Amino acid sequence: MIAKTEEDFNGLKEIGRICASIRDELVARTKPGVTTKELDDLAGELFEKAGAESAPKGEYNFPGYTCISVNEEVAHGIPGERVIQEGDIVNIDVSGSKNGYFADTGISFVVGNGDPILTKICEVAKEAFEAGLKKARPGSKKSGMGKAVHQTAKKHGLTVIMNLTGHGIGRRIHEAPDHIYNYHDTWDDELLKEGMVIAFEPFISTNEEEVFQLEGDDWTYVTENSYVAQYEHTMILTKNGPVIVTL
Ligand code: CO
Ligand code: CO
Repeated sequence: MIAKTEEDFNGLKEIGRICASIRDELVARTKPGVTTKELDDLAGELFEKAGAESAPKGEYNFPGYTCISVNEEVAHGIPGERVIQEGDIVNIDVSGSKNGYFADTGISFVVGNGDPILTKICEVAKEAFEAGLKKARPGSKKSGMGKAVHQTAKKHGLTVIMNLTGHGIGRRIHEAPDHIYNYHDTWDDELLKEGMVIAFEPFISTNEEEVFQLEGDDWTYVTENSYVAQYEHTMILTKNGPVIVTL
């Protein structure tokens, strides 16, 4: 959507705050021994308490309130009986709606002490996000954001996932622009607009550049031999810089 009115800004900020607080609460509760279903049940309670609705459940009938992806799972992991272990890399992605406005945010992190490469890809995902953020100006090419993400990954000897992208958001969970790539797509000449609302989400990978769908499961994206970290926020683009609503 293009946010124009004060009501738009306030509506996006409200659902942004709700999603961010659910994300932070789930991250704090992710300890060895907890199941991803227990974390997700808590998210369900928090959505209800906030008078908000889970977007994956409400829009796509996803079997969970949030997406929780562990280790080989990269995105859209289904909360279940999987028990979190020390050293796991976990991604918690929270998206929801309230009063017709949507927000989407996610973070990857390491539980306790893990392989240093896991911590590294989480840090690089955040660094890539910040590099892309500098290019998130109305009137600039959308592809500049992906270029900055890919350059950041390469600088650290890492790469990006090419078939997972950021997206427009606001009145729906996924809307135009359909794709904010994490690499420089030379065919993409779309310009960013004043008021445009986007979810920007770099995926940094140790070596593989594509995820595939887990067999027998309509949701979960996995890699075979790579670790991946994501970092995502929803923002409104303004001439004074992006307003991040999910901090
Ligand atoms: Co997300
Ligand atoms: Co998203």
